Amino acid sequence: MIQNPTLQTIQERRSIRRYRPDMPDRDKIEAVIEAGRCAPSGGNTQTTRFTVITNQMVLEKLQALAIEEFAKMEYDEHTYGSLRNAIRNSRTGHYPMLFGAPVLVLVSNLRTYANNYSDCACALENMMLAACSVGLGSCWVNQFRWLSDNPVLMAQLQEMCHIPLEEKVCGGMVMGIADIAPKKPAVTGYPVTWVE
Ligand SMILES: Cc1cc2nc3c(=O)[nH]c(=O)nc-3n(C[C@H](O)[C@H](O)[C@H](O)COP(=O)(O)O)c2cc1C
Repeated sequence: MIQNPTLQTIQERRSIRRYRPDMPDRDKIEAVIEAGRCAPSGGNTQTTRFTVITNQMVLEKLQALAIEEFAKMEYDEHTYGSLRNAIRNSRTGHYPMLFGAPVLVLVSNLRTYANNYSDCACALENMMLAACSVGLGSCWVNQFRWLSDNPVLMAQLQEMCHIPLEEKVCGGMVMGIADIAPKKPAVTGYPVTWVE
């Protein structure tokens, strides 16, 4: 098997769900965001917006607001499992979806753009790999995507974080100094078919 630092980072990256409260070095955060900005985009449109939230009061407010809005939502047996859990947990009032991470990066893109989710996903993966490569933990968080048609949350994101209403939050990523040793990767799914 070929091995090099890039492939090693890809193999070592894990979702981290426990963080130290200290803020990572600014140059590491900037390197991660820059990696997101290097991601490919459909037609090279480069419309993905990176909103980097390091203000702890804003983070707490956003998490509390998301809990409030999830708690109002209905679900049934067809509701996607993770969203159903979000609604259930929010109804208990305790749903630490940001895992105490000091940094949240929201990626948003034009609602009218056909590749909005794909471009944002490319950016998120670049950032998660970059975080791993500079010794930071990260985890994709999808809660703000699920609420990206929620007028209350979007109004607050516009006011507090300057995300235009014409944009949809397509995903998010928390990042920080891991407070847990990442487990060894276990890749058991993902069938591969070679047609030779
Ligand atoms: C589209 C997508 C959405 C995800 N949403 C969440 C999420 O909301 N919260 C969370 O803790 N992890 C989330 N994850 C992380 C996955 O749970 C994780 O990647 C998966 O369990 C594999 O673990 P690994 O990242 O350590 O390889 C998401 C991952 C993807 C690709």
